[in-house]
Amino acid sequence: MASLRFHQFTDTHLYASATGAMRGQQTLPSFVSALQHAAGFPAPDAVLLTGDLVHDEPGGYAHLQTLLGTSQVPVHLLPGNHDVAPALAAMDEEPFDVGGSHLYAQTGNRWLLVMLSTQAQDRVDGELGTAALAALDRTLGTAADIPTLLVMHHPPVAVGSAWLDGIGLADAAAFWAVVDRHPQVRGVLWGHVHQAFEGQRGHVRLMGTPSTCLQFLPGSEDFALDSRGPGWRWLELHADGAITSQVEWVP
Ligand SMILES: [Fe+2]
Repeated sequence: MASLRFHQFTDTHLYASATGAMRGQQTLPSFVSALQHAAGFPAPDAVLLTGDLVHDEPGGYAHLQTLLGTSQVPVHLLPGNHDVAPALAAMDEEPFDVGGSHLYAQTGNRWLLVMLSTQAQDRVDGELGTAALAALDRTLGTAADIPTLLVMHHPPVAVGSAWLDGIGLADAAAFWAVVDRHPQVRGVLWGHVHQAFEGQRGHVRLMGTPSTCLQFLPGSEDFALDSRGPGWRWLELHADGAITSQVEWVP
């Protein structure tokens, strides 16, 4: 039985201008380099873009249309703190799909993919909120026999960097209270922290993914940049609920 394969790109921070730069690094060519690197790997069943797709500029989404608008596989989007909600919502046309839960069964290997919004208005940290958590609880309640991957922008655990841990998921405890009721959840995947993170919480694999532009220094108490280049992540979801995944750094 074939594994399901996803490619994740996160924190692309695109500007309306093709030469827009974040602290000196142009974010569009940086994202393109990550896409080109990923093209050398086995083709995915879907692409996941996990927030901060643009850097506060709605014009940045046009670059996603140009680069991925002809994708033959679904491109799932969710917002980060820098996304512009109405402009992101307008991206909800094939091959793009904003948020929602998606059953992947085309390989004879069933997985549920749940794309969650943690965007909280005018805040850098994230929050799911009671309504979204109740909806997640209901969704998971109807899919008890299907291995599930939850995807969002903000990390629901501390990543070991004081300044970043202060701007994570505000209602992480409530999130885990829901997840702990549904043992079919096998992985949680996020962006936001601009660095690689690997962890395990019971049977749930925890995965944070570097940005396609610049990175933050792991373990730093205060804001600090890392010198590493663009990164992205592939995931293989197996029929027995196991996840194989690795971060790739663009050479
Ligand atoms: Fe972010």
